[in-house]
Amino acid sequence: MKILITGGAGFIGSHVIRLFINKYPNYEIVNLDKLTYAGNLENLTDIENASNYKFVKGDIVDKDFVFDLFKQEQFDGVIHLAAESHVDRSISNPTEFIMTNIVGTVNLLNAAREEWKDNMENKIFYHVSTDEVYGSLGDEGFFLEDTPYDPRSPYSASKASSDHLVRAYHHTFKMPVKLSNCSNNYGANQFPEKLLPLMINNIKHSKALPVYGKGDNIRDWLWVNDHARAIDVIYHEGKIGETYNIGGHNEWKNIDLIHLLCNVMDKKLGRPKGESAKLITFVTDRAGHDMRYAIDATKIKNELDWEPSITFEQGLEKTVDWYLENESWLNNITSGDYKTYYVNQYEN
Ligand code: NAD
Ligand code: TYD
Repeated sequence: MKILITGGAGFIGSHVIRLFINKYPNYEIVNLDKLTYAGNLENLTDIENASNYKFVKGDIVDKDFVFDLFKQEQFDGVIHLAAESHVDRSISNPTEFIMTNIVGTVNLLNAAREEWKDNMENKIFYHVSTDEVYGSLGDEGFFLEDTPYDPRSPYSASKASSDHLVRAYHHTFKMPVKLSNCSNNYGANQFPEKLLPLMINNIKHSKALPVYGKGDNIRDWLWVNDHARAIDVIYHEGKIGETYNIGGHNEWKNIDLIHLLCNVMDKKLGRPKGESAKLITFVTDRAGHDMRYAIDATKIKNELDWEPSITFEQGLEKTVDWYLENESWLNNITSGDYKTYYVNQYEN
């Protein structure tokens, strides 16, 4: 079994690669990644010499490169995670998102079709997507697999578009696809422009904590290792043509989450209770900021017996410990001309 995992040097992809390398020593895993600002081979140093692992640097937008790679490697399956993934960046530069998330996905679909067209049996093209494609919820309700798409940021619109194309290739060309739409992930190795690692890093350095708007927006948080477990289960046991929503039933208002994190950090850093929360700074809201995301993960629980393995409190503690113990990982990213995305856009 030879599997292509795209975006494997990123946050979620690196956890998926590690899980597959360790759990399936008989599989050959090829990690295709462009190493954009978000790609970091340091995320994979523990498995980089594994005999069943190979890294290929390349751009999924480069059609000829992608076709050559598929011809050369003869993959049995694809787990596609490579993407531009940060909503704020999609607001300031949408085109990059259209190219990688839409054109890149179509290049992979076309290359898989070219190599698999005579025999699609036992092949899998798995697209990893986000709950943001469903739009924004009010106070009530949850996203289900059949919730109509209503993407509202350039990021979510590009992911919605790629989801539609993956399904269209299934219906039109019988491409053996699977999809999943997951809620916000947190954990080790997340690029420190996303909420939790950004706040952890800023608290550590006693820098302002930029809370967009009033901090009323709600996200449903899932530990990245549990997302990787879900991807494993869906890849192996999910039905062809099906979509699975993945989430932790773990909704937090941003401001409440940041207060919880500040309390955890005060304890870890030996600061007086309330010290870190003094850094909270309300700033200009994100344009078109979605109010609430919440996943109903009943289908994956009932059909594939998947549930989160740990509580949020456990996951948050593990995550904070990881960032505090892996100072050099953070320093290697945040040294040089690194500025948090907010500072770069609004305070420069
Ligand atoms: P990330 O930004 O940390 O990593 C993305 C990876 O893709 C990087 O290693 C980057 O170098 C690579 N990449 C980007 N453009 C590329 C290109 N043109 N060619 C090849 N490689 C390229 O993202 P992430 O948070 O790990 O998200 C991974 C996937 O999961 C994405 O598809 C995202 O939409 C989806 N997702 C993320 C979340 C979340 O909370 N982070 C939640 C649900 C779904
Ligand atoms: P983010 O981690 O960017 O994920 P997403 O936008 O994909 O949900 O942001 C999570 C929430 O935190 C979102 O409501 C925006 C908010 N946020 C802040 O308030 N301040 C920040 O500095 C960042 C990065 C996000």
